[in-house]
Amino acid sequence: QQAGATAVAHTNIALIKYWGKADPVLNLPTTSSLSLTLKEYYTKTQVEEADVDSLLINELPQDAKRVHEFLNILREEVQDFPPLRIISTNKVPISAGLASSASSFAALTAAVAKFNNWQLSLEDLSRLARRGSGSATRSFFPDFAIWEKGHDDASSYATHFDTPDMPIALVVCKISGLVKKVSSTEGMRRAQTSPNYAAWVEESARQLVNMEDALKKADIKRVGEIAEANALGMHNLNLTAKDQRFTYFNAQTMQILDEVKALRQAGYTAYATMDAGPNVKIITTLNEANAIKESLAKRFLKIQFDIATPGPGISYE
Ligand code: DP6
Repeated sequence: QQAGATAVAHTNIALIKYWGKADPVLNLPTTSSLSLTLKEYYTKTQVEEADVDSLLINELPQDAKRVHEFLNILREEVQDFPPLRIISTNKVPISAGLASSASSFAALTAAVAKFNNWQLSLEDLSRLARRGSGSATRSFFPDFAIWEKGHDDASSYATHFDTPDMPIALVVCKISGLVKKVSSTEGMRRAQTSPNYAAWVEESARQLVNMEDALKKADIKRVGEIAEANALGMHNLNLTAKDQRFTYFNAQTMQILDEVKALRQAGYTAYATMDAGPNVKIITTLNEANAIKESLAKRFLKIQFDIATPGPGISYE
C-alpha cells in the first residue's frame, strides 16, 4: 500500500444513453452506450488511510454512505484494505445533468487501485467502477468509449472506441443550478415502466450500430442526428412512465431545443443531447462552436455557456 494515491478522471457525455438496469445490484444496463469524454470537466481524487471511510468534495464534508458501500464492494471483490479518507476536487457542475458521478467513481476506483498497488487493466477498472455508477465505466478512456452491456458482472464494462480525429465540440448550456429532483437511478426505474421501453431498447441497438459507422466516417452531422434521436427517445420514456411520470426538462430546455432547430435551419451543425437535468449539450463542430455560443448568449442572458471538447482518459498524479 502507498501512503496516498491520486487519480484524475474526466466526465463523459453519452451520445447513446444508458437509461435502464437489467440488474440494479450489479448495475448491468439494458442497453450498450457510447460516450464522449470531455477535457474541461473532471474530478481529481486523493485517497489516504484513515479511521473510517469519509468523503470531502471541494473541501466540504459529504455523506459517505454511497462511497462506503462502493469501497466495501471493492474490499470484497478485489482485496481488503483499510478505511480511507477520500479528498475530491470536482470540476463538474454537480447534479445538473453533467454526470459528476461518472468522473467521481472512475477517479475513486483508479485512486483505490493505485493505493493498493492493484495491477488492473482499464477494462478491469471500468468493470469495478460500474458498481459505483454505470456511467463511470466510460470515464477511463480518451475521446469515445463504448460500454458493452454484457450479460453478467464479468462481461459488462467499457472499452475505447477508436475513430479518426474529428473536430467535434459541445456547447454546454448550463440552465440552472438547481439540484436534480429525480436521481438517475430512480429516473431509470420509472422509465422502465413506460410502455415504450422495449421499443427504445431495440431502437438503441440500431442507433449504436449507425453511430459507430458515423463516428468511423467522422460525419459529425450524422453523429448529432443519431444522438439527438436517442436522447429524445430516452426523455420520452420519463414522460410516459406508468409509475410516476416526470421530466428533467424545464421551459428553458424547450427554448434551447427550439433554438437548436433554428440554428440547423440557418445551416449550422447543431444537435441536442440531454441527461438527468435541464441542461442541453449542443453537438457541433469546433469551427461553429463559438458562433453558436455567442448567438445563444445574446438571446439567453441568464444561461451560462461553455464549450467542451474531447478529453483524455484516466491519469495519476
Ligand atoms: C442520463 O451513471 O448516473 O447520464 O448507474 O444509477 O449511478 P447510476 O446512473 P448514472 O446514469 C447516467 C445516465 C445518463 C446517461 C448516460 O450517461 O449514459
